[in-house]
Amino acid sequence: MVTRVIPVDPFDLVVFGGTGDLARRKILPGLYRRFCDGQITSDSRVIGAARGEMSADDYRAFVSQAIDEFSGTSNEDDSSKNEFLKILDFVRIDAMGEDGWEDLADKSRENTIRAFYFSVAPSLFGELASRLKRFGLADKTSRIVVEKPFGHDLKTAQDLNAVLAKYFDESQVYRIDHYLGKETVQNLMAVRFGNMLFEPLWNAQYVDHIQITVAETVGVEGRGNYYDKSGAMRDMVQNHLMQLLCLIAMEPPAKFEPDAVRDEKLKVIRALDPVDWHHIVRGQYVEHAGARGYREAVGNPSSKTESFVALKVALSNWRWAGTPFYLRTGKKLRAQASEIAVVFKDTPHSIFGPEAGNHRNVLVIRLQPNEGMTLDVTIKEPGPGGMRLLDVPLDMSFAEALGGSVVPDAYERLIMDVIRGNQTLFMRGDEVEAAWAWTDPIIEGWNARHDVPKPYDAGSSGPDDSLMLMHRDGRRWRDIQS
Ligand code: BG6
Repeated sequence: MVTRVIPVDPFDLVVFGGTGDLARRKILPGLYRRFCDGQITSDSRVIGAARGEMSADDYRAFVSQAIDEFSGTSNEDDSSKNEFLKILDFVRIDAMGEDGWEDLADKSRENTIRAFYFSVAPSLFGELASRLKRFGLADKTSRIVVEKPFGHDLKTAQDLNAVLAKYFDESQVYRIDHYLGKETVQNLMAVRFGNMLFEPLWNAQYVDHIQITVAETVGVEGRGNYYDKSGAMRDMVQNHLMQLLCLIAMEPPAKFEPDAVRDEKLKVIRALDPVDWHHIVRGQYVEHAGARGYREAVGNPSSKTESFVALKVALSNWRWAGTPFYLRTGKKLRAQASEIAVVFKDTPHSIFGPEAGNHRNVLVIRLQPNEGMTLDVTIKEPGPGGMRLLDVPLDMSFAEALGGSVVPDAYERLIMDVIRGNQTLFMRGDEVEAAWAWTDPIIEGWNARHDVPKPYDAGSSGPDDSLMLMHRDGRRWRDIQS
């Protein structure tokens, strides 16, 4: 399938933390792919800004290597890479001092879209924002891009929002949750609001429960320092799973426009009930079959940080009262599988009698890998011998249905949205705060009770207690399999 690419207007993008890991792995290779696709034209500029001493040529060499390593493009023809490298520049900058700011101001062009990507520790957000104003680099049309973690709890998120609000209007702030940039996550809205089929059934009257799973096979890798202070609740639930929940549960916005969508997501978060203790399971992976355990991986033998969480969540609103949402996420699980399963209720009466058994329609939206959708439909088991029923999946793989077209990575999509000035797929400040307001009491409760996560084997499906969370309700998780 050929997708028409419309070039964005020329822009200046300054990447603070321009030599950091995120810039190297995601931001710069992503920009390169957009350039190759013709979405970024050669009159745009990308300026890396960082503390280290580096010439513009050194920076181009650094980016060239990042492209080779992470862009996933075959560079048989170096000409597009060379063209892309020409739009790059570098400024050595002191985020906490005066050095480099005049230089950056000199490089900044008038009447061009300007965006500033804060790919740095949140403690520097205020420093950068104030200097952008002081040195005349940012104006009313400039855009600020900030990364997760946006705060560690409600208080720190409020502080970050306040510091940004001192210098910039909310309409200029783009808070990234990269899940919103994933094509399959955006597709949740297309499926719900682009089809007549699902929406009439999308409520507590017809839906028995919803499962949201984000299972990873990776462990904490080299991020132990950060992760051990964070844990799965802060790292995944407060942001990514919460966003998935919002998109699945929200009311239809009147338009696909930033505040219309974000207003509806905010209402979902505010409708969440506090979670009952019996409805939360925390886990931590332990060594199994040669795989290292969590505590060894983070180098903290007494760590009580969770690498797995499962929760039963309730929404007190008209649409969802009585339909539980089960959420789970974890590291070092048996397979990588992110999916949402909408499990519909039994038919009100079985005309086939008890022998036909219980059958349910289940809509599974696979976010990654094997992106696609499956709808379990009940049919007659073929053959003689009476009316026996069978559930058969209507299975759609996006790769097959869409002819294997290359889908832009989440960051590419989101950065282009920043340049286009479209905030729909970015979190608003009040949304982030509401998510923390719901998450904080859960974490505070763990701390107050000195809660110790349940061990689970690396490579398993998580702690047994998470199975019990559903068994108690007469339900079961779908198997974690990729
Ligand atoms: C990040 C978390 O935000 O998302 C990581 O910090 C996690 O711990 C990652 O592994 C998952 O993202 P993806 O795109 O691989 O599903």
